[in-house]
Amino acid sequence: MTRLLTWHDEWSLNIDVLDEEHRGLIEHLADICHRFGPEASPRRSGDACALIDALTDLGEAVREHFKREEELMQTVGYEDVAEHRTEHALLMAEYTDQLRHWRAEGIDVFHEEAQEDARDWILDHILGADRDFAKAFHEIEDHLTSAGHCHDVAARARLNAARRYP
Ligand SMILES: [Fe+2]
Repeated sequence: MTRLLTWHDEWSLNIDVLDEEHRGLIEHLADICHRFGPEASPRRSGDACALIDALTDLGEAVREHFKREEELMQTVGYEDVAEHRTEHALLMAEYTDQLRHWRAEGIDVFHEEAQEDARDWILDHILGADRDFAKAFHEIEDHLTSAGHCHDVAARARLNAARRYP
């Protein structure tokens, strides 16, 4: 029996724009589980091409998210942006390998093991490096809101722009 994949509030980074995107990615994956999982109607699952297309679309959505996240990191002057970018590239390479494996396997039902692999891949990102970035982001924010730094208009403008991105 497939567990229902839903957003958990403890995954939040308290950066609204990123939380919204992460939630969107989880919902995107949940939709694929719903459409192609073992409990889906046989008319919906059992179509290998449609399933691989849906999983490819998910990978592209994550790639776009990584790109926007890197722009945000640059905007706020996050010093570990290069390291984070490398991590994104490794995650995408991992997913490309996984897709190749699923394609070779001829996967036509998004079975539980595949669902778990995809979920772990997304959560590795949200609960891993993004937590380090969120910590740094909140430190920058605290620094700017503390007394004595309210005159730093340019830094404040960068932070506000980041909060509103894209
Ligand atoms: Fe992220």
